Amino acid sequence: MGRPFCGLLVVLALSVSVAIRAQDREIPRGIQAQPGAPEPPTPAFQAAMQSNSTIVTVDGGGTVTTGTLTKSLTVGKEDFEAVLKDARTLRENFAKIEAFFAQRNIKDAVEFAESGAKGVDELEKAANAKTRAGAARAQLTIAMSCRRCHLAHRAHVLTYPLKYGIIVGGV
Ligand code: HEC
Repeated sequence: MGRPFCGLLVVLALSVSVAIRAQDREIPRGIQAQPGAPEPPTPAFQAAMQSNSTIVTVDGGGTVTTGTLTKSLTVGKEDFEAVLKDARTLRENFAKIEAFFAQRNIKDAVEFAESGAKGVDELEKAANAKTRAGAARAQLTIAMSCRRCHLAHRAHVLTYPLKYGIIVGGV
């Protein structure tokens, strides 16, 4: 590839990034106005999600989940008190998430939140019985509820910087 051509590519790349930066950083109003358009998350919704992800991280590389639960369930170093504390936080978060989607009458999302809460019941039971395997299984149930809801209701909205929205219509 000749030098002038390389130079042109750099200029092109720069102008594209300037153009993107100049765009509205919020979800464009035109998109928000369309029926079934993703709803921007509220700060409370995002806070519950971020709290979730310190406990169970689900959007990683597709291997084991990371987060405080995995740490507390390390073989030989189990900390069931810490698991119970995380379970309480997850329970509060799932209740908030369920209420959010119930308010919008979105049945499958409510069910995902309920199945997460069921996972929390199993997690608490296992932590009280101090069984690591049971707690790890419950962790998986919880992570699956996060993933299923994300697949169905988490939409990437094209903005700069990138933003996600909540699919509230049509399901
Ligand atoms: C019933 C649906 C539902 C469940 C259950 C759910 N999420 Fe979410 N989550 C969403 C939606 C929709 C978004 C998109 C909005 C957003 O990105 O803020 C989201 C966004 C997120 C984000 C990004 C938050 C941000 O900073 O904006 C994280 C992190 C996250 N979820 C983690 C989790 C984890 C971990 C769990 C399980 C313990 C979980 N979520 C369970 C629907 C759900």
